[in-house]
Amino acid sequence: EKNQQSTINNHRLPIHTVGIIGAGTMGSGIAQVAATAGCLVKLFDTNQAALDKAKVALEKVLNRLIEKGRIDAHEKIRIQGNISYVNALQTLADADLTIEAIVENLDIKKKVFQELESYVSDTAIIASNTSSLSIASIAASLQRPERCIGIHFFNPAPLMKLVEVIPAVQTSQTVLDTCVAEITRWKKVVAVAKDTPGFIVNRVARPFYGEALRIYEEGIADFATIDWAMKTIGGFRMGPFELMDFIGNDVNYTVTETVFNAFYQDPRYKPSFTQQRYSQAGYLGRKSGRGYYDYKNEEVDNAF
Ligand code: NAI
Repeated sequence: EKNQQSTINNHRLPIHTVGIIGAGTMGSGIAQVAATAGCLVKLFDTNQAALDKAKVALEKVLNRLIEKGRIDAHEKIRIQGNISYVNALQTLADADLTIEAIVENLDIKKKVFQELESYVSDTAIIASNTSSLSIASIAASLQRPERCIGIHFFNPAPLMKLVEVIPAVQTSQTVLDTCVAEITRWKKVVAVAKDTPGFIVNRVARPFYGEALRIYEEGIADFATIDWAMKTIGGFRMGPFELMDFIGNDVNYTVTETVFNAFYQDPRYKPSFTQQRYSQAGYLGRKSGRGYYDYKNEEVDNAF
């Protein structure tokens, strides 16, 4: 009955086929979310190994969901059946909405957007999952900039409820309305934000990490004490150092640096040398087995 419902909904809604560019951490998670909501998803990556990895990872995640009793075997087959893994961008020609989640580099994103626009219909929406680049500058690379918008998921995309939707100055109201309705249908909570560095969450979060690092650098408390205090007294689910280890110190440092520079070096967002050195040393966090804490004896579990 559930499946029938989503099929019916798909015919009513303007978004039927969803293209995803980049099958990494974010792209593969967003693909799962869209496929679960009943969209036909085309997940594209230039790297075949990334596509293979995304497919295996989804199988694992869905098996874990079955074990936990959250979905059944039919649901697993339905979700998997909705995703195709493709290695030619042209395959995304019939996508009503494409969400790009490739490397955080403006020139590379612009090139991919221009190529995609040459294949898709005039009404197709082209979105970026960028954390820190301006949507206006990405939109400016298109013939029809009004079709461009930011749709910013959080990691891990299937688990995190919030999605920021960011219209650029060029974005049309129809494109914004369509995206808000569609992402809401994907069972996410949408916050519409203006196109400014870090949008809402990544801006509010800068002083959270930055001040924690400064407290450590000033010798006031160690990582574990700061994390403990923020969890016990602050009511946070994770302390700042646990969270930075989860996100990755390289990723977190780069976002801070970008927000800092984008705000004309406002000292509120100043990056930390401690984090820079940890990042340079390869102490990236959970993904490298060591960050502010040691994870070598812990199995990294990305299934939820
Ligand atoms: P990732 O490195 O895990 O995945 C990127 C994927 O894009 C790789 O599989 C790579 O092969 C592919 N790729 C690179 N260039 C390509 C091209 N020209 N055409 C097709 N595929 C290409 O990266 P991740 O972490 O998923 O980030 C992707 C985007 O999402 C970035 O813009 C990032 O700022 C943003 N983002 C990341 C978050 C995170 O916590 N990792 C959270 C929210 C947004």
